[in-house]
Amino acid sequence: MFIRALLIVLVAVSARCAEGLALPEVLKTADSKVIKSPEQWRQDRRPQILELFKEHVYGRAPVGRPDDLRFEVTETRSDFMGGRATRKLVDISFSGPGGEGRIGLIRFIPNKAPKPVPAFLLICHRGRDNIDPSRQVKEPFWPAEEIVSRGYAALTFHVSDVDPDNYDEFKDGVHGIFDPPGAERSGDAWGSIAAWAWGASRVMDYIETDADIDDERVAVIGHSRGGKTALWCGARDERFAFVISNDSGCTGAALARRKQGERVADINKNFPHWFCENYNEFNGKEENLPVDQHMLIALMAPRLVYVASATEDTWADPKGEFLACVEASPVYELYGMKGLGVKTMPEPDTPVQIGHIGYHIRSGSHNLTLFDWRCYMDFADKHWGKSNE
Ligand code: GCU
Repeated sequence: MFIRALLIVLVAVSARCAEGLALPEVLKTADSKVIKSPEQWRQDRRPQILELFKEHVYGRAPVGRPDDLRFEVTETRSDFMGGRATRKLVDISFSGPGGEGRIGLIRFIPNKAPKPVPAFLLICHRGRDNIDPSRQVKEPFWPAEEIVSRGYAALTFHVSDVDPDNYDEFKDGVHGIFDPPGAERSGDAWGSIAAWAWGASRVMDYIETDADIDDERVAVIGHSRGGKTALWCGARDERFAFVISNDSGCTGAALARRKQGERVADINKNFPHWFCENYNEFNGKEENLPVDQHMLIALMAPRLVYVASATEDTWADPKGEFLACVEASPVYELYGMKGLGVKTMPEPDTPVQIGHIGYHIRSGSHNLTLFDWRCYMDFADKHWGKSNE
């Protein structure tokens, strides 16, 4: 308790102002040491920030890669998408003290593209028809045909395989499987967002065994609650070379201290299972948070990260998402790279893709559209070289 209070005070001391907001300094340690090199960032500051997010926001996963993690390819068929793609269905299974779990992975790969191919892994929280493995239903939410035609592997799993998206006192999903039986839940125990991020990391464990996918060029992408998950996943798991947040908003890419759109108190009240119990201490008190979301984006450095907003999605605070990218940029600059590269919000539908942080604000509502996907693939093409089917 004392340490938590102390950290909060130290943050207040080391705040700096961005557009009138007193944000915690991303490049200053809790004991006010200014970070001047990538080595210092990695040694002194990055672990500190990661720890603060675990302790106060997303919670701590009690397990990493389970000892008995297994991958079973249940089907391989090369005649999808008019013969252009191979579908593999993979069961990723594991067990813990509370039972067994299984994540069903759907994976399409372009047949003709030179292997190994780069990949996009979508964390899906919407209805399963959005990720129809048979491809009878084709939703822009996961445009597998378009992804494959651009030379990328299209992978996805559904979050409910990892942890159902409902509040049941953390009995179901991986919470029930891995939380120590009978023990009282601690204030920093993992919520559902952390659980889903853990699931995406298990998919990465599989990807590392798949010779047709280049595990050094894998993007993790999510929309909304899935976008919050992609960011937390990318922050913890540096195997993901590219992290994409689509309309992630509160406790995703948007700065909490702006107090625009959804607030910390709203999200904790409406979704009590998403974050750790400690996060409730900041309901109505965003300025006491020892972190803000620019620091989460900064944890991706020096890897690629892309944040997208939508003009009508005021609940997710587009401006707050943009400013978080601006404020994360100094960490990329430490590496001698451009972060976002601009400080003024772009016009709708004009992507900013000049540095290692990408950003766009699309016209329209809260959604993951073909326009968004095309921007992400353009950014990947730019940094990874154009893929060909
Ligand atoms: C709600 C919630 C958001 C979330 C969104 C979604 O609107 O308040 O924080 O991003 O659901 O996941 O669709």
